[in-house]
Amino acid sequence: MKTKILPTEAIKRQFEYMNVIKAENDRFALENGFRKGAFVMTFGCQQNEADSEKIAGMAESMGYEIISSPENAYLIVVNTCAIREHAELKALSTIGQYKHIKQKNPELVIAVCGCMVTQEHRVNDIKFKYPYVDFVFSTSAIHRLPELLSTKLVRGKRLYCTDEDYSVAEGLPIRRESDYRAWVSIMYGCNNFCTYCIVPYVRGRERSRRKEDIIAEVRQLVAEGYKDITLLGQNVNSYGKDMGFDYDFADLLDELAKIEGDYVLHFMTSHPKDATKKLVDVIANNKRIAKQFHLPLQSGSNRILKAMNRHYQMDRYLDIVDYMKEKIPDIVITTDIIVGFPGETEEDFEGTLNALNRVRYDMIYSFIYSPRKGTPAAEMPDQVPQDVQSERFRRLLDLQNEIAYEINQKYLGKTIRVLCDGRSKNNPDVLCGRTEGNKIVLFDGAAENEGKYLNIKITKCETFALIGEIVQ
Ligand code: SAH
Ligand code: SF4
Ligand code: F3S
Repeated sequence: MKTKILPTEAIKRQFEYMNVIKAENDRFALENGFRKGAFVMTFGCQQNEADSEKIAGMAESMGYEIISSPENAYLIVVNTCAIREHAELKALSTIGQYKHIKQKNPELVIAVCGCMVTQEHRVNDIKFKYPYVDFVFSTSAIHRLPELLSTKLVRGKRLYCTDEDYSVAEGLPIRRESDYRAWVSIMYGCNNFCTYCIVPYVRGRERSRRKEDIIAEVRQLVAEGYKDITLLGQNVNSYGKDMGFDYDFADLLDELAKIEGDYVLHFMTSHPKDATKKLVDVIANNKRIAKQFHLPLQSGSNRILKAMNRHYQMDRYLDIVDYMKEKIPDIVITTDIIVGFPGETEEDFEGTLNALNRVRYDMIYSFIYSPRKGTPAAEMPDQVPQDVQSERFRRLLDLQNEIAYEINQKYLGKTIRVLCDGRSKNNPDVLCGRTEGNKIVLFDGAAENEGKYLNIKITKCETFALIGEIVQ
């Protein structure tokens, strides 16, 4: 099926709604001496963060002031995640906390969107248990926020937009969180149906943006001075397959990296089944592509990989890892691991530990398996008891902490280029930044360095951070 690009007409219509709401909000600001505030609360992955930047962009275009806490808001949008039960419970409890704000300000409009409410049972939860939520919209209806808000404001009725018309919407306003780091979605959806995962059910099938649109967006970001640009997709290696032409992700990355400027490209995520040597070569040959690869393994047991429907076995995975290390000796490799998938035995789990020892990841993101309603794995026999999952999780982290500590020692005494993120959130006395490989670096200096590249000489290496000092 060819990707459906949303006709500009559909987006134009949304701009008309935006203008109507803006006129009303401008009038309110004139009468009251302040603008109505809009607050966007985001859960989940970078894909959701990117969507939230569009939500905030639309809200700003509708005459709202984007504010950083919900208390005085006139519009709250909660962008939810469904990847694990914990993510859903957090979102629901946050929505619960907004009830008292609505009681104080009955004019407040509360909307809930994102992956959690792209599931029917969660829409029903909101409908019946959260009566103060005004409207709900699915992941494919993000661009319809102005229309939905307008309908709500005019008619006052609760709305449930459970659109499943997955298209590619171009031209929406984006309000970026940072003025030096940016997300660029290159495709949406997922076709892989890993048996544990809810994403294909809530994000629809894969669809790629036109390469011209992506290149124009990256070009503009570079011109605006953005330094760190991350290309997003659930499986970027599938880029272009739905477009039916002979141009893949490696081609796109190669073309983007030719844009002149001082910036670095990152991308995520790469599915190991489609990670190609051609892609590794493109990374190796381009100085503007980060020497970093996030390659989710999930499990080190062939049996479990099969049950997960991952479409690769350990030999293929290690083959691509070895090729990366050969071509790019200083590459930073990270991964995702699921512990306690149904049927995982001690032996399977030891396979995962062996994989950690074999690959030696710089960092892992590890998760205890969480059954998701409607996915095949949730119905599988031999669900692993919680105490066994927790014990394995602990052992996995202990091993990884050792490995990461050892790997990081190689940076001692070296001077590396770091993009400064300003004051550290955990310790405002120091600045923090990230290396090209996304390692956290802490150092002394003035807050004005935020958004700049600095050379940092590393004086101490810990498991989760490098510590150093600015050198001129
Ligand atoms: N598209 C990306 C991952 C998106 S979800 C990819 O395929 O790599 C991010 C991570 O969440 C996954 O890699 C997986 O490790 C984890 N995850 C997904 N579903 C999960 C579940 N049901 N329980 C626990 N972890 C899960
Ligand atoms: Fe989920 Fe698998 Fe798709 Fe990643 S590739 S989003 S883990 S189904
Ligand atoms: Fe969560 Fe949806 Fe991302 S389920 S991890 S926000 S794609």
